[in-house]
Amino acid sequence: MSITKEQVIDALRTVDDPDFKKDLVTLNMVSDVEVVGNNIRFRVTLTTPACPLKEKIKKDCMNAVSAIAPGYDIDIVMDAQVTSMRNPNINILPSVKNIICVASGKGGVGKSTVSISLALTLAAQGAKVGLIDADIHGPSIPLMLGVKGKRPEVRMVKDKHYIIPLEAHGIKILSIGLLVDERQAVVWRGPMVTSALKQFVTDCLWGKLDYLVVDMPPGTGDVHLTMAQTVNVSGAVIVTTPQEAALTDARKAVSMFRMQGINVPIFGIVENMSYFTPPELPDNKYYIFGKDGGKRLADEYEAPFLGEIPLIPSIREAGDEGLPAVRDINSPAIIRESFDKIAAELARIISIKAAERAQAQPQEATT
Ligand SMILES: Nc1ncnc2c1ncn2[C@@H]1O[C@H](COP(=O)(O)OP(=O)(O)OP(=O)(O)O)[C@@H](O)[C@H]1O
Ligand SMILES: [Mg+2]
Repeated sequence: MSITKEQVIDALRTVDDPDFKKDLVTLNMVSDVEVVGNNIRFRVTLTTPACPLKEKIKKDCMNAVSAIAPGYDIDIVMDAQVTSMRNPNINILPSVKNIICVASGKGGVGKSTVSISLALTLAAQGAKVGLIDADIHGPSIPLMLGVKGKRPEVRMVKDKHYIIPLEAHGIKILSIGLLVDERQAVVWRGPMVTSALKQFVTDCLWGKLDYLVVDMPPGTGDVHLTMAQTVNVSGAVIVTTPQEAALTDARKAVSMFRMQGINVPIFGIVENMSYFTPPELPDNKYYIFGKDGGKRLADEYEAPFLGEIPLIPSIREAGDEGLPAVRDINSPAIIRESFDKIAAELARIISIKAAERAQAQPQEATT
């Protein structure tokens, strides 16, 4: 007996997306179903290429369809279309689906490292990604990505000048460190800083992006308010080390984003420099800055805990050399594994929040 397209679709109605708790057909994730001879082919479009459940969903589809079509060859194309948390009717960066601020409160805890690594990891998984270095007074992205000294092109479009972001390691990048002499920007006052940042967003040709990651300066000042209030930021990732001094400042950052009138959702907490494992003692973990501070902070604010990154000298060395550790195949695998996990969790949370938003405001829903 031959199988029909409808039977394949009915079989896929039994496969749920565990995050959305609905079946793939109801979620409009199944398309291009074909039955040709002994071959069944269909496409499953997830809401992020970084979906941590991708393999499970593929296996569930395979099981559901092979149960009704024994002996058939089944070919599943796994695809992704990132959903947006932003209102598509806004006129600031309408082609950017999600803007993620990476902030901390305290300086030196790893915001730039986390911003770069998340941006590169999301891009490696197939997303279109941009990165803004919003640390006007201490831009570190150009050095850490090996583009220091390069100048972005400026192009005239319809009588207006636009900055073309640089491209490196598969992502688009813009930093004040690429536009003016670093020593010059150090003396800039608040209004100059905020207008430079607004320009990064409004006068830069970012094109279509799934995720735009913004590496914030330390503290909770003007830049944070500018980004939150003028750019329609989708949410924030808070980076902290486990130590109390960093947690105290991280609390300030969380409170600022959650303030009335700002209302930027907290996507989650990342704990950096969680422990140190000496290469000669691979089974030992030394909790140099204390233990589980990031998890406690997440519990305290009922925010997701996205994951932890150990203290590894090659992260620092790679940053100084302009080849990020997540892109260096010679760096310890734990670095890529940690960021894969954090990026997947972040992408998953954004997808869920986008779906909740679309449900609450169906007229604005977009993919
Ligand atoms: N997990 C880690 N292991 C080892 N070194 C790290 C780790 N995370 C960050 N570093 C190093 O620590 C230093 C500070 O990190 P980074 O510049 O990312 O922090 P930041 O929060 O952006 O700092 P700032 O507040 O100055 O912007 C850098 O030299 C970086 O390479
Ligand atoms: Mg930084």
